[in-house]
Amino acid sequence: MMDLAGGMDLTGRDAATILADLDARQAKEPDVHGARLFGLVYPTGRDDIDELALEVNRRYLFGNALNPFKFPELAALETEVVAGVGSLVNLPDGGGGSMTSGGTESILMSMLVSRERARARGVERPQILAPVSAHPAYAKAAHYFDLDVVRIPLDGSYRADVREAEQLIGPDTAVVIASAFSYPYGVVDPVADLAALAAEHGAGCHVDACIGGFVLPFLERLGHDVPPWDFRVAGVTEMSADVHKYGYVPKGASVVLHRDEDWFGHQAFLFDQWPAGLYGSPAMAGARPAAPIATAWAVMSYLGVDGYTEIVRDLMTTVAKVRAAVDALPGVGIVGDPVGPVLALASDTIDLYAVGDVMDDRGWNLNRNTDPPGLHVMLSPAHGAVVDTLLADLGDAVANHGESRGKAIRYS
Ligand SMILES: Cc1ncc(COP(=O)(O)O)c(C=O)c1O
Repeated sequence: MMDLAGGMDLTGRDAATILADLDARQAKEPDVHGARLFGLVYPTGRDDIDELALEVNRRYLFGNALNPFKFPELAALETEVVAGVGSLVNLPDGGGGSMTSGGTESILMSMLVSRERARARGVERPQILAPVSAHPAYAKAAHYFDLDVVRIPLDGSYRADVREAEQLIGPDTAVVIASAFSYPYGVVDPVADLAALAAEHGAGCHVDACIGGFVLPFLERLGHDVPPWDFRVAGVTEMSADVHKYGYVPKGASVVLHRDEDWFGHQAFLFDQWPAGLYGSPAMAGARPAAPIATAWAVMSYLGVDGYTEIVRDLMTTVAKVRAAVDALPGVGIVGDPVGPVLALASDTIDLYAVGDVMDDRGWNLNRNTDPPGLHVMLSPAHGAVVDTLLADLGDAVANHGESRGKAIRYS
């Protein structure tokens, strides 16, 4: 049972009191602009981007994207965002997709499509073949849509082990998952090998680019060594890419893409057996907020490829500082070979949970990993301004920490 004891004051109060109340409540939580949070929000530290997002929200806050016939311009903005993300990830002509509320909903829709396609070829209980490091959204999709998840163990570099996947794939496999890149370690799974394996077995291949979708295209432009990961890989059939992560749009904006438009047909829901005419909806939600769509369009238009590339260039300077500092810490190392701004720290000799406790006490909200036990550092552009303090505190915490307080490890 949820504890509803506190109740809610429904007597009706004046706006100033309510805002003061909210300010007081927000003050008890980490500041979303403060660059001391990792992963939940993606602060840029750029007033121009934040101001644009605020202005667009003022204009679109009360909208509803449910009916594209009533709001054709809003529908066009969504199509343009989908096309824009499609061009970043090399979606071929004939591909399609939609915006959703976030990575989870994009993944849910893609898994639904894969289930429908597997069922169409006679699979009764379709399976998702997903690396152990894949996001929980795949398990959630399995739970919602009556699918099974078969887990691919990781190799020595914390990427999906292709040899294990070869043993696990079978006639019931609907879709093979590859993360580009994964949340726990920031490493890119062997997309080309997994996609080829999927194609060989008549299965789809979903690339989870929820984090990487707005990082990898720009790393490539900056000349970084990025393994094949997007629709240029022949067997990749589906992708999720979140504008509300490294696209720097407030929450509620993701894109799900399908290589073939007819796959998108499985995603959309149409219904006319009720007394109010044809109802259509592309994803889980019915009424959909307009603001995330318009904000995604605005921020993507504003930054453009050059703007995002500049941000990633600066971000990677911060990443390099962190990596160098971690390498210099005795007994602490980076897990695997992360490609971008998501780093996992592990140690055989130092209790990193105890280090995390000290960091918590200093106001950093670092996340923890369970395997290997350690800390999870997801860097955003705004961390560039505080990285020296962060690293000084980390070095100090590694040198001076007590016993771990045994804080429960909860995914951010
Ligand atoms: C790799 C990856 N996929 C999917 C998701 C789910 O995204 P959301 O939280 O927007 O639903 C996340 C969230 O962190 C993620 O890191």
